[in-house]
Amino acid sequence: MTEKLLLLPGDGIGVEIMAEVEKLIVHLNKTGKTDFSFESRLVGGAAYDAEGAPVSDETMEVAMDADAVIFGAVGGAQWENIGYENRPEAGLLRLRKDMKLFANLRPAICYPALADASSLKLELVEGLDILIVRELTGGVYFGEPKTITELGTTENGENQKRAIDTQVYETYEIDRICRVAFDMARTRGKLVHSADKRNVMKSGVLWDEVAHEVAADFPDVKFEHILADNCAMQLVRNPKQFDVIVTDNLFGDILSDAAAMLTGSLGMLPSASLGAPDPVTGKRKALYEPVHGSAPDIAGKGIANPIAMIASFAMALRYSFNMVELADQIEGAIAKTLDAGLRSGDIMQAGCTAVSTSEMGDAIIARLEG
Ligand code: IPM
Ligand code: MN
Repeated sequence: MTEKLLLLPGDGIGVEIMAEVEKLIVHLNKTGKTDFSFESRLVGGAAYDAEGAPVSDETMEVAMDADAVIFGAVGGAQWENIGYENRPEAGLLRLRKDMKLFANLRPAICYPALADASSLKLELVEGLDILIVRELTGGVYFGEPKTITELGTTENGENQKRAIDTQVYETYEIDRICRVAFDMARTRGKLVHSADKRNVMKSGVLWDEVAHEVAADFPDVKFEHILADNCAMQLVRNPKQFDVIVTDNLFGDILSDAAAMLTGSLGMLPSASLGAPDPVTGKRKALYEPVHGSAPDIAGKGIANPIAMIASFAMALRYSFNMVELADQIEGAIAKTLDAGLRSGDIMQAGCTAVSTSEMGDAIIARLEG
């Protein structure tokens, strides 16, 4: 059966790194390992320029119908003044919200060859394998009201405004993301940390209450509460104490960027965003994207690191298509390529060979066959 992929390269380096995934898909199809059909469409600033919106209704329809969406990155200086509703990021947020992709898995794995490339000491990150489970369709990203209002002018002539973002979580949202975290922990180190700010936020109090209730259903998994600020500190102090970290949308955004640097570079971290399994088919809607952004400063130069993008595609094979062996092979090929000393600029080390985006892609494909 042919499986349908939607490729959304987006802006900046999104285009270059997606080209490497496309190359990989063509290779896998040609060698009979997969039978993917794929279509590429615009998203982000590129879509705004050509279609008038950061994601068009038509693209949304194709995304809803796809077996998996592979997403590059969005944003860039030229779209900074087009208004909040149409900013490139709004395209990504609509995809996440409308596809109901509440569970964002962000694995931070330190490849042996890169333990030296991290800004942290080698012994802290060597062998690191943690998973951040970030809630992705709720919280302050989407809560209403979300407004800026004019308050008028004060006596000394200053124009005052008030900005409001709203952090909202309901029990079911916390429950389902915690269940994902505990299910994942069962397949790995059997330890879950739930990070919140229950000492300051009501949403944190509820988060913690629900997390404890879910934990009771998983007696075989060890459960720890941690305050989100302490979690940030512990991630750079002793990251290997963690296995799975479950947290809300905003804390997850921040903690995953910190975790990314443990792996050597933001260019290394893939992610999977999953919906709930369909009650009839069992299939989940899914979008796969690197954690890094569109890196406008290096866009178009052919020097971006395609590894997070390729590893995101490997996650698609694992989670959407149950092609576990092939996903393992791709991750293995990435490790071998790094072992061979090939490096993009962001992970460059003394004595290694600098390669372009496409050379890195080719090198990974070349090492697929073992
Ligand atoms: C991420 C990104 C997005 C987010 C942006 C591009 C909207 O930083 O996926 O981590 O904040 O979620
Ligand atoms: Mn982010």
